[in-house]
Amino acid sequence: MKLSVIGLGKLGACTAACFAAKGFPVVGVDINKASVEAINQGRAPLYEPGLQELIEAAKDRLKATQDYEEAVRESEISFLIVPTPSREDGHFSDRYLREALGQLSAALKKSGKKYHIFVITSTVSPGTTEESLIPLIESASGKKLNKDFGVAYNPEFIALGSVIRDFLNPDLVLIGESNRFVGDKLEKLYKAVCENKPYIARMSIVSAEITKISLNSYITMKISFANTLANICEKIPGADIDEITRALGADKRISPYYLKGGLSYGGPCFPRDNRAFAAFAAKYGVDAKLAKTTDEVNRLQVNHLAETVLKQIPESARLVAVLGLAYKPNTCITEESPAVRLIEELLQREVEVITYDPLAMDNARGYFGDRISYASSVKECFSHSSVCVVTTQADEFKAIDRSYIVHNPTIIIDCWRILDPARLGKKVKYIAVGRACDGSHPAGSRILEPAPLQYKALA
Ligand SMILES: NC(=O)c1ccc[n+]([C@@H]2O[C@H](COP(=O)([O-])OP(=O)(O)OC[C@H]3O[C@@H](n4cnc5c(N)ncnc54)[C@H](O)[C@@H]3O)[C@@H](O)[C@H]2O)c1
Repeated sequence: MKLSVIGLGKLGACTAACFAAKGFPVVGVDINKASVEAINQGRAPLYEPGLQELIEAAKDRLKATQDYEEAVRESEISFLIVPTPSREDGHFSDRYLREALGQLSAALKKSGKKYHIFVITSTVSPGTTEESLIPLIESASGKKLNKDFGVAYNPEFIALGSVIRDFLNPDLVLIGESNRFVGDKLEKLYKAVCENKPYIARMSIVSAEITKISLNSYITMKISFANTLANICEKIPGADIDEITRALGADKRISPYYLKGGLSYGGPCFPRDNRAFAAFAAKYGVDAKLAKTTDEVNRLQVNHLAETVLKQIPESARLVAVLGLAYKPNTCITEESPAVRLIEELLQREVEVITYDPLAMDNARGYFGDRISYASSVKECFSHSSVCVVTTQADEFKAIDRSYIVHNPTIIIDCWRILDPARLGKKVKYIAVGRACDGSHPAGSRILEPAPLQYKALA
């Protein structure tokens, strides 16, 4: 099977590299010349753990071009992984998909090829593929669905920072198919590519579109539930969010994933997929109250943290260090990051901010400019400020101990309970999100791992 991947961004570059590394010839296409050149020179066009190594390993089978005709000519299946930004009304825009599909379909017409498969991987609002994209392919190519071309909706369930591991070891492969032939082809492909034995869910295109955003909407609801629980625990001496979620997660009806109580979810997918779920429901006359409230709870969680921080700032020093800017560790992405929203809240209350993140400093500079100060290390943050908020579980932050502490007292607010207060020394007042800050929690607290799973996720 020869493949093409249209859009070599955060997901597309990894998809192309994974297919090629598993033995399939892949042509990548991007309107961004730099990404095309990077792939052709054997360089990763962006940072994602393992991507560079995979591109090197797949060098003979992976190339890139800006020519759609070449992509159609040299592949049987095209995966479209271009941006689908959110519109004002919460739905996803299919503008870039239509542009790419228009070009591909015209190239198909010109090529004289008898058959081609188009796979939509970008996240779309349910109904988009059948209402908007298939008619476009038919009119631009002059061909007929399921006779001259097939279509699938096949989104990926990956997290930035572990895209390659997630892609090669998914719990679920979701295939919405225009007919059985298309689904069979994709099932065969994924059976060859996946390193585990995932559940392969085959269904109609619209069912797959609904499944994709429902899954993310459900996860955000779970995160918001855990965050609410964490807020309650803060009010009750002796209550510990980690002990509680560890026990809850051992029940197979709940499962331990995304149940950690701490800071809001963010990034390019969760917030907008959840809002898109509510917008999709509204389009069909259903008020998706759970999804809307989840979004509200998520926003309030940052306000709650801001209040916690403000209560701790001494009048004499209106400077806070925020450690962590990306929406999670191991990524530079700051889109809808709770740390960014926290900083905005603090700036509004005339609190100065100094910040550090292992990967996201450039993105933060681009966003905040000179409204905040930038440190070059965790230690520099502690040397400037007596109040530090740890917003992500970055490995670099887990190393914080008494040797970092300069000011007496220093207040540390740990959103994910990654620090051991016993190692911080006597100068530190340690406040953990999800625990009462009255000293009732045993010093040198245990950092609990999730309970081992007693069941198979998707049997
Ligand atoms: N990044 C994620 O974590 C993730 C997870 C699941 C789903 N998705 C979905 O995947 C899609 C892509 O996301 P991403 O994060 O990779 O986006 P991205 O912005 O990182 O990359 C998109 C790429 O597409 C290219 N592009 C735009 N128009 C094009 C065109 N007409 N022809 C060829 N290339 C074109 C851009 O230059 C860019 O390189 C989105 O729909 C997103 O919702 C992303």
